Formats: sequence, structure tokens, C-alpha cells
Amino acid sequence: MPDQWRSDELVFFVNGRKVIERNADPEVTLLTFLRKNLGLTGTKDGCRRGGCGACTVMVSKCDPVSKEIRHFSITACLVPICSLYGAAVTTVEGVGSIKTKLHPVQERIAKSHGTQCGFCTPGMVMSMYTLLRNHPQPSEEQLMEALGGNLCRCTGYRPILDGGKTFCTDSNGCQQKGTGNCCWDQGEDSSRGRNSDISTGLFAKDEFQPLDPTQELIFPPELLRMAENPEKRTLTFHGERVTWISPGTLKDLLELKVKYPEAPLVLGNTSLGPAMKSQGHFHPILLSPARISELSIVSTTSEGLTIGAGCSLAQVKDFLAERVSELPEEKTETYQALLKHLKSLAGQQIRNLASLGGHVISRHCYSDLNPVLAVGNATLNLISKEGTRQIPLNEHFLAGLPRADLNSEEILQSVYIPHSRKWELVSAFRQGQCQQNALADVNAGMRVLLKEGTDTVEDLSVAYGGVGAATISAPRTCQQLRGRCWNELLLDEACRLLLEEVSLPGSAPGGRVEFKRTLVVSFFFKFYLEVLQKLKKLDCLRFPEVSDLFLSALEDFPVTVPQGVQRYQRVDPCQPLQDPVGRPIMHLSGLKHATGEAMFCDDIPRLDKELSMALVTSARAHAKIISIDFSKALVLPGVVDVITAKDIPGTSGATDSKFLAVDEVLCVGQIICAVVAETDVQAKQATGKVKITYEDLEPIILTVEDAIKYNSFLCPEKKLEQGNIEEAFGEVDQIIEGEIHIGGQEHFYMETQRVLVIPKRGDQELDIYVSTQDPAHVQKTVSSTLNIPINRITCHVKQVGGGFGGKIKKPATLGAIAAVGAIKTGHPIRLVLDREDDMLITGGRHPLFGKYKVGFMKDGRIEAVDIECFINGGCTMEDSEEVAEFLLLKLENAYKIQNLRFRSHACMTNLPSNTSFRGFGFPQGILVIESCITAVAAKCGLLPEKVREKNMYKTVDKAIYKQEFNPEPLIRCWNECLDKSSFHSRRMQVEEFNKKNYWKKKGIAVIPMKFSVGFTATSYHQAAALVHIYTDGSVLVTQGGNELGQGIHTKILQVASHELKIPMSYIHISETSTATVPNTIATAGSIGSEVNGRAVQDACQILLKRLEPIVKENPKGTWEDWIKTAFEQSISLSATGFFRGYKAFMDWEKGEGEPFPYYIYGAACSEVEIDCLTGAHKKIRTDIIMDACSSLNPAIDVGQVEGAFIQGMGLYTTEELKYSPEGVLYSRGPDEYKIPTITDVPKEFNVSLLPSSPNPLTIYSSKGLGESGVALGSSVFFAITDAVATARRERDIAEDIPVKSPATPEWVRMACADRFTEMIPRDDPKTCEPWSIPVA
Ligand SMILES: Cc1cc2nc3c(=O)[nH]c(=O)nc-3n(C[C@H](O)[C@H](O)[C@H](O)COP(=O)(O)OP(=O)(O)OC[C@H]3O[C@@H](n4cnc5c(N)ncnc54)[C@H](O)[C@@H]3O)c2cc1C
Ligand code: FES
Ligand code: FES
Repeated sequence: MPDQWRSDELVFFVNGRKVIERNADPEVTLLTFLRKNLGLTGTKDGCRRGGCGACTVMVSKCDPVSKEIRHFSITACLVPICSLYGAAVTTVEGVGSIKTKLHPVQERIAKSHGTQCGFCTPGMVMSMYTLLRNHPQPSEEQLMEALGGNLCRCTGYRPILDGGKTFCTDSNGCQQKGTGNCCWDQGEDSSRGRNSDISTGLFAKDEFQPLDPTQELIFPPELLRMAENPEKRTLTFHGERVTWISPGTLKDLLELKVKYPEAPLVLGNTSLGPAMKSQGHFHPILLSPARISELSIVSTTSEGLTIGAGCSLAQVKDFLAERVSELPEEKTETYQALLKHLKSLAGQQIRNLASLGGHVISRHCYSDLNPVLAVGNATLNLISKEGTRQIPLNEHFLAGLPRADLNSEEILQSVYIPHSRKWELVSAFRQGQCQQNALADVNAGMRVLLKEGTDTVEDLSVAYGGVGAATISAPRTCQQLRGRCWNELLLDEACRLLLEEVSLPGSAPGGRVEFKRTLVVSFFFKFYLEVLQKLKKLDCLRFPEVSDLFLSALEDFPVTVPQGVQRYQRVDPCQPLQDPVGRPIMHLSGLKHATGEAMFCDDIPRLDKELSMALVTSARAHAKIISIDFSKALVLPGVVDVITAKDIPGTSGATDSKFLAVDEVLCVGQIICAVVAETDVQAKQATGKVKITYEDLEPIILTVEDAIKYNSFLCPEKKLEQGNIEEAFGEVDQIIEGEIHIGGQEHFYMETQRVLVIPKRGDQELDIYVSTQDPAHVQKTVSSTLNIPINRITCHVKQVGGGFGGKIKKPATLGAIAAVGAIKTGHPIRLVLDREDDMLITGGRHPLFGKYKVGFMKDGRIEAVDIECFINGGCTMEDSEEVAEFLLLKLENAYKIQNLRFRSHACMTNLPSNTSFRGFGFPQGILVIESCITAVAAKCGLLPEKVREKNMYKTVDKAIYKQEFNPEPLIRCWNECLDKSSFHSRRMQVEEFNKKNYWKKKGIAVIPMKFSVGFTATSYHQAAALVHIYTDGSVLVTQGGNELGQGIHTKILQVASHELKIPMSYIHISETSTATVPNTIATAGSIGSEVNGRAVQDACQILLKRLEPIVKENPKGTWEDWIKTAFEQSISLSATGFFRGYKAFMDWEKGEGEPFPYYIYGAACSEVEIDCLTGAHKKIRTDIIMDACSSLNPAIDVGQVEGAFIQGMGLYTTEELKYSPEGVLYSRGPDEYKIPTITDVPKEFNVSLLPSSPNPLTIYSSKGLGESGVALGSSVFFAITDAVATARRERDIAEDIPVKSPATPEWVRMACADRFTEMIPRDDPKTCEPWSIPVA
């Protein structure tokens, strides 16, 4: 091999062990390397885009300038291994393990119940661990900052934070002390031993092992030596397609830049990496300046600050903070503005990776820093072989004009940011979908220099991001305003000019056009007020005060550390200590989650001859497939085969939903064929080479509106009716009519869909490891697809990284396609969907369009309701008919309405099929009915809570489908919620606040809930179990429920321990398998734990019955003695248990039945504050009361309630799916689709499980709380709309606006119409094709 092609050795450390990679491939990321090469699967793969934090690890490096060791968290999915030369990586496995020793972080996250599915947990552990390495006693704010880039879809973050807070200096254990909510304030028991029925301690802090920083892994001495004596030689790593060159000196770097002018510099790879992955950018040569210390130098002068281009944004933040603390305030205006944005820019891991140079040079249109740097007159210090020069970071540079840009041989060495001067004022603004870790829709930097001692504008600059292809300035506006006084006239003129200059076409990419236009002027208004306020500070005599009413426009919502109390009923003090029922037992896999030892489907080590599969999907919404040409894919290296419908030996799904499309495609994202290759990368690359020719078909139906127009429905109308609505409408005082639009929701389980199919030679047998809620369905589907009997196929489910309904049906399709591949090739096949494909291919919650007509009396009594709902079902039936039915059954919620008619229709559209999702129709239904109530209240001039109370079920009654129930717990929950949340006094405080503040408004809402669990047929509640007792007394339990994170295994073990009267440590659950428990039902509908618990109870009781004579004979014997004797007496120590299911049926002809076994009652009160100028909101407080009867495990049940609530809150506030007019889903990752982050948790978040009420039907009188909390998230929605309604009243806006969910910043801003929304240009929908369309 010629020398130029020989790679250098890449040397770095992982968990204290040296790694020498002789053939390091620049395209391989640290995540892939850890998981595939080193088998360290604790680090998880959640998005591969830096957006979820599941892959967080700690990197330690010796700083080339200060020689200090820096520890920082990073997202391993964005880090090329080649960038790690000389670094030490610590993964979750290096932190601690069950086998060796747990680290306190791992122990505390698990024991504080911070894990459910556990897929996010290793990332959380690593973020927290890194924080503790740098700050052994961090503040709670630092903890929040450290976790800001880690998503969790299950827990709602509160318990994770609680675990972390135990390390904080400022944490007093009980966060509510002195607020009136503290257990101590109210005489409740905070942990143990005090006289009360109610407990508020879910874990015992005093049991935690202390943190001992001296026990941590040291920085490898070899790396220290390398840092002290740095290698000056250029290192080169050749991959298959890409070469990585890392020079050791600046001179060499500049020479390389001459040699390879097109080669980019890789710093953090947070811009290059995603572009290479998602936009197909390819660079054969990459230059890494990581070892060039000249790029990390920071220097200060009396005029300003120069920061090396290689410094990370986290370092930039620290430098700026230092300067701000040292310099007089007037000099730090620009620095403070930058700091403001650096706090919310991405998550900590990205700020640790991303460099200042990379940020500036990338010139993203959403860049938060460039607008501020531009108005702050920053200068770029460039260097090349020819020498150095400076260019301004101005609009010409940002627009990429060649004369104002770097030439191809230059690099950016540093950025100079001058101090501000007295009378120079700088501000920064941004608004994204949520507060943290979300790209801004619009951001801005604004600076004004006033003539000394006056309010006359000497100089003005304004720059915006998000409103064009790059950051744009408004030089003409600024020019025209020079010399003007800073007053209302200037404001009006500025807004007019800005809207002319910063024009955004109606079809601009990214959409939200009118919102963005409004922000352009709203931000300027904020700036106007800020300057007025600063002027007042500069000379309080000369300049006027900003009116109190307007002051509220100024402050941004701060990031706050959530606090809260969880209340539950403690067990009877007489209950034996060993009996775990009713106790807050930690999730059985909690410690394994926290150490990364929990085995998820894709953590199974690679098998011999295993192949990978990737899917080819339709690019058209409705088209005929003319041809599929995969010849170019087949010739690529590593590609083994392409699987098409022709390869399916049996049935390919239903007639309306073929697993692999044959002649026609019905939506973008429909699976057409699958490429099988030696590696996942090869398979994925080959999918791009499969050429499909289409002929578009008409019509393309994407929206509910179109479906109605074309009469396109998946099933006949569903209807429930009672009383006589026509007559009632004739007798009421008033009638209102309105419309509701509710967007869909992506499951966003942290573990995407994945399956591993292993064919066994000879017997036509298959072993399938799959992430599913319904292994029996996968088994049946694979059987019919392959045309082999079910008994040849075994499905195994270890643990599922979140399901939420999205892993009921789809895993069967994916399992079937992978199984066809496995049979055809004879090899094991692994199919792992990446986040983009998962979001594209799988559907989610049904979007809904609803129309209502409500007849009511003046006092708010509702007499008649007529509601018609249309759900967007997508292209095939899947679960749409059931969702349409459940929607109707649950629609009345907590209200008794004498005369009603509910109708629902499942629309067939050319979108991916929507499917089951936690709550199954109810989260949409509750929004519909509660909107009716709110509308009635508004018309009657009553408070919504009064109308709710008036219409609520109060005594034993019959639901709309004639099932009798007793609403007493509902009333208790409602009253308790009003009481615990101090609702009435807070309602008054909200009103007071609103009177005093024009631009910020508060809103409060309390929502009652009656939620029905389970399914409408008895057979869907059946469950089975198999319990073996072994001769050493240990017990193995298997049952039909799947561990999705909801803690089913923990609860099942609690049941078995209680029944067999042995400690939980004697009992083990290994997996759910169709070979041990056959013919199971999907784990869904909130009832999984209890029905399977009943089956386990049955098996245990059978076994106990068999042991009875032995125990009688030897009552003082031990469990082990009895088992030994039973064995000697040939008594079977294995039993199956069975539960036939709850009685449930529904007769749709008659509209009657007993469709649900029982109800969950609850109530939630939420308070929010909105910013009318930006549409942002802050959740101030939520109180939830949930009727859990006798909770089997309060820690798990509280966790389910909180997690579901936060998921619901996401549904109703930030989670927005965007589709193109051609039916292409834009939102395919965490950047574009915003699930709640830790900063979205209400500032105060209290959950109480209502003290025991009887539920004789269920095991130990417990209730299934998996789904119901989602709907209570609507309390946040109604609090927001309450605030918006106040703003609209104040602004005298008479007309009603249709209800629209989610209540995004865009919706809130545009609903709070004012002079700024009025001044923006509006587009004519007839002439302007929007970037995205609403599908309901
Ligand atoms: C999950 C995520 C969230 C994000 N959120 C935000 C956000 O909220 N707000 C925001 O503003 N940004 C956000 N970003 C973007 C982020 O700020 C940029 O990607 C980052 O700053 C780029 O820096 P880098 O070091 O990673 O650049 P790289 O990807 O390494 O390089 C980017 C480009 O810069 C060039 N370059 C780098 N250094 C030099 C140099 N010294 N001289 C010449 N050229 C150079 C390279 O050639 C390359 O073309 C986010 C990114 C991610 C992945
Ligand atoms: S997998 Fe790396 S951040 Fe999501
Ligand atoms: S526990 Fe966090 S994603 Fe499941």
C-alpha cells in the first residue's frame, strides 16, 4: 500500500481502556463504534441527529491552551471517531454496573423512580454524571441546564430531576417547604413513621450511598503525556469513501487548505454531520483543526474580546459570563445579548460540541448568534497561507456574497466582539416552538446608538434569523431612522419599514409566515420598550417611565426548576414488611436501565452471518407503480438482495394494506421493497439507488375537508344518541355552534421500531426478537406471510423502549417483511428503523375535525349537544374504526347531557395509516366536549368551572351507552382538586394580574375526567400466566403482558410475592415469549398489569393449594423446606394461570352495552402565563388528583400519571406534525417535532392519588392508570385559551376563533390580535400555495 493511503493509528480511551484503531473510518461515529465495535450497547441510538440525548457520553480532554482537563457531555451520534484522537470517553458502562459497583447517579435515578422504559436513562445518567465531575455539588439550575438536551418520553422528567436534586446544594429534600403544600406544612408524612394515612415520600434519600469524587476514573496518564508533548505530525485516517486529515500545526492546516480548498473544517460536526446524513452532502476530504491550539485562544483588550473559532459554544458562554461579571454594564450589552441566546441554544451536549467558528461559518438561517454578532459589529479574523485579514460579520458576509466571504484557502481564526459603549444598547430575541432545545422560528439582534444624553438615534442595526435563507439585516430601515427620536412615531415608522424590507413570501419554507411577520414587528416593539427602560435608567430625570401596564412586554419567561409533591395512601401498618403490594417499589429493571445493562432488541449482539435490512418507501401520495428498478442497488458493495411483494410466499397483509406495495401506493412512506445488505449503512445507502417510476393518480386526499368532499371514508358512520335533541334545541335559551381542529401526534417512543428475525435451519422455525406490545400478533402475521404454522414461530420481547400504542400493529408488518428476508436469504435479519423512517412510515394519533352545536340555558345548564367528528384515518383501516367508536363512547366525559347526538367518521386519506395511541380517542374527545363547555361559559358570562360543575354527573347514573356507574369518586377528585390547588383564590389572583399587565396574561383551568379503561369485548381482557417453582425455591414467572416501561413486571412480581408470601427477590421474570404463554392480547388499554396480574394470581393460588398439605404438616418449615418436600412427593411445581376477562360488550345497533369494566376518575388544574407578543407560555402550576383506588405500586402509578400528563401537554401545546401540500411529512425528527423537554414541566407539579375507594373488580382493588393522564394535559390547553380569551376581551375582539390544538406559540400570538398583527401583510390563500397544510 502506498504511504499516502496508509492510515495513522487512532488512539483514544474508552472507560479507562486504550483503543487503537488502525483503520479508523471518518464516517463512523462514536455511537456506532461503541455499540458495534466495542459492544458497549448502554449508549442508545434514539435519533442520530443530536436531538434526543439518548447517546450522551462524557468526553475528557486535556485543553491544548490551559492544559487543564475538561470533562464535557456530548452526543455520540454526531462525533466522528477520528475526532477523538487523544481523548478519553466515558460511557454508562464505565460509570458503574450492577456486577461491580453502582455509581450514586445510577442508584439515585433508579431509586427515585426516574426510569420507566429506560431507553433515555443511560443518556440521563451521563449528563448528570458529567455535571458532577465538574461540580460535585451543583445547583438545581445547573442540573436543569445539564439535562436540557435529554428527552424522555415516559417519565415527565420530575422523578429524574428528583434523583438529581439529591446531589444539589440548594435542595432541601422537600421542595415545597413553606409554600403551604409541603407535607410538613400540612402534617402529612414525608417518608415514614409519622401518623398519617397519606405519604409523600416515594423514596428514602437516607439510603443512598454518598458521592465520592475521589472514586472516579482518572484521566489516562498516557493521554496526559500526549497532551504535554503534543504530536505535531499530520495524522491521516482513510475510510472507504472519506479521508480525515488532522494537522498538528496551523501552518500545516493552512497548507492543506491550499491543497484541498473544497474540504470543510470539522469542529463539532453538528452542522456538517446532519447535513451529510439528511441532505446527502458528501465531502471526500475532511480537515480537522482539533489539535491547533491557535484556534482556541481567547484574548481581551480594553476595546473588546477575541474568541478563538475553535472554542465550543459552552466555552464561549463561560468567557462571556466572565467578562460580564468583570466589566461595567454599559460595555457588556452585546455580551449579555449573546449570553441570553446561548442559554437556550440547543442542549448542553450540542453547546459542548459546536464551535463558534462552525456556528458563524455555517450561516444557518436560524443561527441565534449571528444576528447579535452582526449588530454588535463583530469582526472575523481570517488566516491563510498568504497572511491574515479581517472582514466584518455583516449582512454581506451572512448572505454569502463572494466579496464579503472567506476565500477557499482561508479559515476563520477568531471572532472579535467589541465592547458596547455608553448610550449603545443591544438586545436579543427569539421564539421557537418551546423554550429550550428548539430552533427559533424567528430570532433577532438589535442595537441602537443614541446621541450622548439624548434619545436621538445615531446608529441603528437590526438583524433577523428565520425569515429568509440566511440571517438578514434591514439596512434601509436603519438608515431612514437615523437622526430620529426614540418615540412612538419612530416605532410606527420602524414597523412599517421593517415589514417592507424584511418581506417573507407566503409560501416560504418552514411556513408560519404570518406569525413570523408578526414577530418581526413584535420583537422591534419589545426592543423599543427595552430601550425606553434603559434610557430611564441612564437618565431618570429626562426620560419617561415605561407605563406599568406595558412593562410586562419586557421580561422573558425564566427557566425554573420544577418542584412538587406526590401524595398517596400508605399501606396498612399491620401489612407484613415483606409484602410489597401497595408500596412504592422501584422499577424492576431500574438499575439495569441506569447502568445500560438492560437489553433492548437492538442491543442483542450481532449474530453470525447476520444481515441488515432497510426499507424503500413511496415518494408519492397516490400513484401507480410503473416500475421498480433495483439493478443499481444490487451492484453496490455488500448488498445481498432486494425483497419485493413477489417474494412473499403467503398473505401480504390485508387487501387494503399490503405489507409491500404492488401496483399502487396510497401514501408517502408506504413500504415498497426492502434492501438486504451486510451492514445497515450499506442497506440504507442502497435504498437510494432503487429507482421507482410512478404515474400519479387522482384524487390525492390529504385532509379531512378533502375526504368529506370525495366521500372517502374507511367505515360507515358511528352514532350514539339519547333524548330528543331537536326538541331540546327548540326549548333552550341559547344555541352556539363552532368548530374544532386537533392535530395528530407522533408516538416518539425513544426506541424506534426494531426487529431481529433468526431463521433456524431444518425445521422452518423462526425466533423473532421484536420491540412490540403484541408479540402474538407478530407471530400470527409472520405465520400467514410465510405460510407456515404459528407453532414454528417464537416471538420474544425483553423490554420495549416505549410503545404508547404505536407498537401494537406496525411491528407485525416489519416482522413479516424481515421474516421474508430471513427465509429468502437464510440469514438472520435485523431491521432497525432510524428516526426519520419511523416517523415517516408509522402513523400516530388521529387528527380530528369536529363540529358542535350546543343548546343551553342562561344559567349554563346544557340541554342538548350535537357533535360530529371526523378523524383522519390515513390510507388503511388499522385501528381507525375502533378509535372512531371509542371517541364516541368517551365523548361525554364527566357530563350528564339529557339530549345528545354524537357522530364520528373515519376518513380515508392518502397519509400513512393512523393508529392506536395512549387514550385511544379520548384525548381528542375531551378537547371537543370541554371546548363546548368553555364556549357555553363564555356566552353565559360564567366561569367555565361553574358550567362544568353544573353539568357534571353527581349521583349514580347511566352513561350514554346505558352502563350504570357511581360518579362519587369523580366529585371527590373535583372537590379535592379545587381545594388542593386553592383554585378559587388563585382564579382571583389571575384576574388581578391580568388587570395590571397588558402584554402578559395568565390563565387557569380545572378539568374533570371520567376515563374508561379496557376494551369493548370480554375476550380482549383475557390473560394467561405460567409460574414455575424450582427446587431451590426460586420462582420463574412468565405472563402475557409486555414490559413497555409501565412497570408491568414490577407489579406482577409484587402480585406473585404477595400470593406466594415470599420475598420478591425469590421471583424472576425474564421475558415475554409466545412459547411460554400463547395467544396473548396486546398490552394496551391501561389494563395490562391487572389482567395479567390476575392470571399470575390464579397460577400462584393453584400452586399454594398444592402446597397446602405440606405446609399444614410442617407449619414452622421454610419455603425451601416445603418446595423440597413437594418435589419429593412428586407434586407439580408448575402451574398455568388464567383470567377470562372482564365482562364487556357493546351493541352498536342499539347504542347500548357495558363496554368498559370500570372508570378512572380524576381532575387537573393548570395555570399558565402567556406572552401576547411572542405566543410563548410558561406553565406555572399543575395539580392532579387521580382516583387510583388502592394503588398496587404508588411510585409506578404516580409515574404513569405524570408521564401521561406531560405527553398530553405536548399533544395540546407543542407537538405539531407538518405535511407538504403533496402529502410529505416534514416533521421527521426531534428538530422539527417538539416533545416536551425538562424545561416544559410546570414550575409546580403536584400529583395526588386519591385515598382508597373500593374497586372490587380488579386485583387488590387497584386501577390501571397508564392512559388517563394524557387527557388531563388538556388543562394546560384550556389555561392557555383562558389567557388568550382574556387578552382578546381586553382588546375588544368580538368574534370567536375556532379551537385549534396544539396551542402553539403561533396560534397564541395570532389569536392575541393587536396593532402588530393588524399591520402585517396577509396572503390570499387562492393565489399562494402554503408550505404546509393542516390535515384536520
Ligand atoms: C440538535 C441541534 C440543535 C441545535 N440548536 C441550535 C439552536 O437552537 N440555535 C442555533 O443557533 N443553532 C443550533 N444548532 C446549530 C449549531 O449551533 C451549529 O451546528 C454549530 O454551531 C456548528 O458548529 P460546529 O463546530 O459543529 O460546525 P461543523 O459542523 O464542524 O462545521 C460547520 C461548517 O463550518 C465550517 N468551519 C468550521 N470552523 C471553521 C473555521 N475555523 N474556519 C472556516 N470554516 C469553518 C466547516 O467547514 C463547515 O462547513 C443546533 C444543532 C444541532 C445538531
Ligand atoms: S441518538 Fe444521539 S442525540 Fe439522539
Ligand atoms: S424512561 Fe425516558 S424515554 Fe422511557
